[in-house]
Amino acid sequence: MSNSNRLRIAVQKSGRLSDDSIALLKAIGIKLNIRDRLLIAHSTNQPIDLLRVRDDDIPGLVMDGVVDLGFIGENELEEKMLERKAAGKPFEYEVLRRLDYGGCRLSIAVPNEMDYDGIQSLEGKKVATTYPYLLERYFKEQGINAKAVMLQGSVEVAPRAGVADAICDLVSTGATLEANGLVEKDVIFRSKAVLIKRADGELSDEKETLVNRLMPRVDGVLLAKE
Ligand code: PRP
Ligand code: ZN
Ligand code: MG
Repeated sequence: MSNSNRLRIAVQKSGRLSDDSIALLKAIGIKLNIRDRLLIAHSTNQPIDLLRVRDDDIPGLVMDGVVDLGFIGENELEEKMLERKAAGKPFEYEVLRRLDYGGCRLSIAVPNEMDYDGIQSLEGKKVATTYPYLLERYFKEQGINAKAVMLQGSVEVAPRAGVADAICDLVSTGATLEANGLVEKDVIFRSKAVLIKRADGELSDEKETLVNRLMPRVDGVLLAKE
């Protein structure tokens, strides 16, 4: 897979980053014929293939060298990096550009009725999250003994379901928290989309040349939007 001479780029199939990432690729002149049900899309004017996958899979695909580039949120990237490091798997990558979309924050939120005087209020408590490594790193930095409970989804209902005392989840508008009787308390990570590349020296010369040709165009698009 990785020895294909077409540059492989991973993008989120559907979600927060999909539309903006595709729009950026189109804006830098890459013609794409995306058919909704297909995992792969071939560019018609560049030696580039697009892999449309779950965002959670993108950091690993880049770190394992299965794809050459990937568009991913920094939150997901940092979490997967910590997870793979702990598991003894390759966790290296290079950030090519920090992008201007996909902004969100990873925050601790607690039920409206909870007495909360700062992070020490979570001592001995359970916090539901999809980002246990980021959350446990934060607890450690703060010197708090609390437990991260891993949930892949529906994190916001965990306190009501009696599964956890609080949550740590992504917030952008705050609507999800509000709808679930939760209040945002501590921001533990601020995230934006980034374009990442396989670790240094792992791309063929042809691919490296192509990437180097594309990056000034990315800069042009970012600049034009400022
Ligand atoms: C995040 C998070 C909340 C929502 C918060 O999910 O888990 O559900 O966004 O956004 P809001 O503050 O605007 O309401 P996301 O859309 O990233 O989907 P995922 O949980 O499936 O990754
Ligand atoms: Zn996700
Ligand atoms: Mg969600």
